[in-house]
Amino acid sequence: MAKSYEELMGALGRAVFFRPERRRVRDLLSRDAQPQLLVDGNEFSLFDVSMNGVSFLSADATGWRVGTEFDVVLRLHHREVFHGRGRVARIEPGLRKGARVAIGLVGGFLDLPEILHQDEEGQLETDLAQGPEYWRSRIPAALQEEMDRAVQFLHFSRRVLDRSEARYRARPARDGDALAGLADRALAQLREPWAEIQRRASRAAVAVLGDREVLLASKRLTEMLVTPVLSACPLVHRAYGKPLGYAGDYQVMQYYYNNALEGDSVFARVFHKLGVEHPLSAGVRTRKDYVVRLMEEEHDRFRERPDADGVFRVASLGCGPAREVSDFIARRRGWPGSVAWTLIDQEDEALSIAYNDSHRQLMAVGANGALSCLHLSFVQIIRDPSLLPIESGQHFVFATGLFDYLTEPIAQGLVRALFDELAPGGLIALGNALAPNDHFWSPEFILDWTMLYRTREEMLRLAQRLPESAEMKVEVEPGNAYYFLLIRKH
Ligand SMILES: C[S@@+](CC[C@H](N)C(=O)[O-])C[C@H]1O[C@@H](n2cnc3c(N)ncnc32)[C@H](O)[C@@H]1O
Repeated sequence: MAKSYEELMGALGRAVFFRPERRRVRDLLSRDAQPQLLVDGNEFSLFDVSMNGVSFLSADATGWRVGTEFDVVLRLHHREVFHGRGRVARIEPGLRKGARVAIGLVGGFLDLPEILHQDEEGQLETDLAQGPEYWRSRIPAALQEEMDRAVQFLHFSRRVLDRSEARYRARPARDGDALAGLADRALAQLREPWAEIQRRASRAAVAVLGDREVLLASKRLTEMLVTPVLSACPLVHRAYGKPLGYAGDYQVMQYYYNNALEGDSVFARVFHKLGVEHPLSAGVRTRKDYVVRLMEEEHDRFRERPDADGVFRVASLGCGPAREVSDFIARRRGWPGSVAWTLIDQEDEALSIAYNDSHRQLMAVGANGALSCLHLSFVQIIRDPSLLPIESGQHFVFATGLFDYLTEPIAQGLVRALFDELAPGGLIALGNALAPNDHFWSPEFILDWTMLYRTREEMLRLAQRLPESAEMKVEVEPGNAYYFLLIRKH
């Protein structure tokens, strides 16, 4: 399962001394494990585990004392995988209410590889006993019908394209690139029917969103029937495979920005291209252009200010490849004074691309700009804003592809922290996939890529912790896939 963005910690997250890693239960165990933690016989919701301890959520925030010892039992798939003694090590406030209680094990340890094995065994037993009917019977017929339509469409397209590709390859070479011609013909014919299938599936999938069991069953069936056909496409392979632990990594963003036919077969290239044309993918490109425009407008505005100190300061949080920066430089080419960009990401490979591309562009046009890349997590910035070696306020701060993963309380805290970094007159622009939409089925069900789609009201709520003097509005970027919350400091 994908890691949450709050767990991606950048360089400072790694400790110098070995400490057994704590793993969130929802990332470690299967969807069916149903972990049960019994502390002196009472069941609690297990939060995370490490080799030498567990933490759990308790509605009662006051009844726990550090140092108290308890009997601890952990069950998976209703079977005991650990039984021993534990001692309360820490009590912290819960996510919303109550407490999170951390227990250190006394004289025993959690054998995580063995626990994972037990989880797999439990799953195997359940799967063999229930078979696919158990799940089929829980998924609404309307969604199953749309999924069948998708499966048939993909298998049919693959067969047709594979056959023609083999036929063209066997023919002696003639004028023109026959395979490129085949891909173009297929794209023209398949684009609209495949888009319509995905819209229909999204509309049918709304019915399962309120029921976690049915949602998981529907995702499972999609991952079993639809995802494997598409896994030949580089976009699907990377986003579903999540080699860095989450779907929207820098490589996936590069696929979006490239917007090209990529893959080892005509079928793979055609459906990869249709994937990067999907409204939420195409929206990544239009939102990038929208941010470049905002950056230009803010730059102009800054230069008109009589008190401008000569350096226009811009920060991007969760910057990925920072295509906005290289595009800004390529379009503007030169300016009086200087521009200083601070690019922040928890992924050093993303920063390396961001630095390289933007630096190359600066060199190419000979413009006066400085790039500073920070390998940090926003979680660390919220906890300790002094980690940002930014001595003066920022004139423009933006984040795209980040808030879509943050729950409201965390997002509100981050908006406040960013607002505090803003210079008077400065602007914050925060993108988020918009709700409701007809497009969520493909990322959520085919790619297991969960996002928090927000309404206009939910976007405005993200600014709830700001002073009243902050001016805000919500705009839709031209691709109509992402909202932007715009906040000006006065
Ligand atoms: C979907 S990508 C968007 C990249 C870029 N903003 C764009 O639109 O092209 C999300 C980025 O957020 C970064 N990210 C995820 N969690 C983060 C965290 N906790 N702190 C900082 N960056 C994070 C990822 O490494 C990734 O590069």
